[in-house]
Amino acid sequence: MTGGKDGAVLDTDLLIDDPETRVIVCCGSGGVGKTTTAAALALRAAERGRQTVVLTIDPARRLAQALGLRELGNYPKQVQVEGFEPKGELWAMMLDMRRTFDDMVRAHAGPERAEQLLANPFYQTISTSFSGTQEYMAMEKLGQLAATGDWDLIIVDTPPSRSALDFLDAPTRLSSALDGRMIRLLTAPAKAGGWGLRKVVSAGFSMFAKAVSTILGGQLLADASAFMQAFDTMFGGFRERARKTAELLRSAGTAFLVVAAPEPDALREASYFVERLSDESMPLSGLVANRTHPVLARLPATDALAAADALERGEQSAPLATAVLRLHADRVALAEREKRLLARFTKAHPEVSVVRVPALPSDVHDLGGLREIGERLSGS
Ligand SMILES: Nc1ncnc2c1ncn2[C@@H]1O[C@H](COP(=O)(O)OP(=O)(O)OP(=O)(O)O)[C@@H](O)[C@H]1O
Ligand SMILES: [Mg+2]
Repeated sequence: MTGGKDGAVLDTDLLIDDPETRVIVCCGSGGVGKTTTAAALALRAAERGRQTVVLTIDPARRLAQALGLRELGNYPKQVQVEGFEPKGELWAMMLDMRRTFDDMVRAHAGPERAEQLLANPFYQTISTSFSGTQEYMAMEKLGQLAATGDWDLIIVDTPPSRSALDFLDAPTRLSSALDGRMIRLLTAPAKAGGWGLRKVVSAGFSMFAKAVSTILGGQLLADASAFMQAFDTMFGGFRERARKTAELLRSAGTAFLVVAAPEPDALREASYFVERLSDESMPLSGLVANRTHPVLARLPATDALAAADALERGEQSAPLATAVLRLHADRVALAEREKRLLARFTKAHPEVSVVRVPALPSDVHDLGGLREIGERLSGS
């Protein structure tokens, strides 16, 4: 795998061509280009001969359409569009968080219990709006895709969290919420003959339970209690799966790519994430600095500005040329700022290789755009 040295350039082709690479996870904070990177890498991997599946999360509608995904299928579909004849295969899917959760409940609880669980309002709240559910379900789906053995490369996009770390933290948070002390407090008495809640509250043993019941309302508390009782039998499987997926993420065939904009906040966030991956012994392949602004001409900014000034002072006015020169000077300043920021990142993390992907003139929503991003990702 591509272990960079002293800020080496990341070549994602080495990664996707390596048959040992089985899973690539694209992480990063919100809006940096995770979905685009995941789709572009998958397309390129398929064109270079691999049986690839990409698990996307909330792709922009036009990108989904370009991949032939019109609705949330929750199962991969082979991408078959005109003019696309990859050496390998490209399959794509959009994560349907609710259906993934439902399927998991069905797979673990018996049919009767499953229906009870699915109809429970508390379940409906947890499965759609609990923070961390989407991250958990993305991992669950990754586990499922890996278990089929149908693809030799799985590329995973991650949910649009504020922080890249959420992807690693959320599943644990969700498990502990479902598995935690509060839930046990709620369910244990209920098991002892349905008196539970009343006993709990009247015994006054827990201000906490009272507070919960005040905040959530009695009915929701009762739903929660019923839900947790039914869910109880699933916990073994639930935890076991989370553990297995975490193991997959730590395995040698998995590579993490951190996507970041060349901005101070995004790079700071990427730094935290790099450190966290290393603490967790999760294999990082490199940083994708997305939407950089390379300069198009070699003219230094000072020269461009001097020329613009001269033109303005000159006899013949040349407003267009002046504007272009000033624009160029701005662009040079921006490029230099980005270069400095990336150099600072590399100084702090010399072992992380970096690839710069320029901002394309428009959004990436077709195969041509994805191909172009894929090419840039290979460092060419
Ligand atoms: N290099 C690029 N050049 C031009 N447009 C880009 C580039 N990378 C991403 N985009 C565009 O930026 C937007 C956001 O990208 P994308 O959806 O991949 O980000 P994301 O990290 O997945 O966001 P979220 O956190 O919301 O899931 C999209 O419209 C995409 O087409
Ligand atoms: Mg996205």
